[in-house]
Amino acid sequence: SDRTLLLAGNWKMNHDHLEAISAVQKLAWALEDAKLDDSHCEVVVIPPFTDIRSVQTLVQGDKLWLKYGAQDVSQHAPGAHTGEIAASFLSRLGCSFVVIGHSERRADNHETNDVVAAKIRAALSAELTPILCVGESLEQRQDKSHVEFTLGQLDDSLAGFDANDLSGLVIAYEPVWAIGTGETATAADAAEMASAIRARIGEKYGDSLAQTTRILYGGSVKADNVAEIVASADVDGALVGGASLSGPDFAALCKAA
Ligand code: G3H
Repeated sequence: SDRTLLLAGNWKMNHDHLEAISAVQKLAWALEDAKLDDSHCEVVVIPPFTDIRSVQTLVQGDKLWLKYGAQDVSQHAPGAHTGEIAASFLSRLGCSFVVIGHSERRADNHETNDVVAAKIRAALSAELTPILCVGESLEQRQDKSHVEFTLGQLDDSLAGFDANDLSGLVIAYEPVWAIGTGETATAADAAEMASAIRARIGEKYGDSLAQTTRILYGGSVKADNVAEIVASADVDGALVGGASLSGPDFAALCKAA
């Protein structure tokens, strides 16, 4: 496809701001050793909020081709919202992407699809690219309601937007049972859901948005399974947790993709 391969490393709550510098530096060296550049893929590092300034300094100072983003964003504009981080703060720090609606936040922080939609709106208004996460539980996979459930999350998380709002949107399909478990969906399972998601985007917003929207798979992706997963026509990359924490490991994964 014409869609650029996207490999996004979600560090989750790992690496403080000093460890972040070392991890990004090692990633940059390993990508250079592997002779990878942005003609092969887009590589994004998604650290905790407190690391973003460190990552910005390194990426801009060393003119690295890596991009970076955040793991969450407030749905609110700046103001009286203790503990929240506004989308405009992230874009001013040079973030390109923001993960929205990760299953860990849906579970731990009771994020509903309505909240997810509001966060997408906030991100878009600050020119951040949302990486919208959707995906079913093990129970839903077993009772075969996984496609219906995941497309329902997609519909509700995108309620109220039109095709113009959503250009550039990235969707990550992450079956909850495959996250951090070492259990990966088969490439066929990932492909099936990616194609269902693309078809739904097409029905609702038209073929042009469906063809440009990047759809990632996430859930125990590693250097030795990434190639098979991204070989599917509708899977445009991966959202990687554990295997993105070490720079050399993540570079090896990017090379293998
Ligand atoms: O955001 C990343 C995903 O939740 C996958 O995490 O690669 O550690 O399974 P994992």
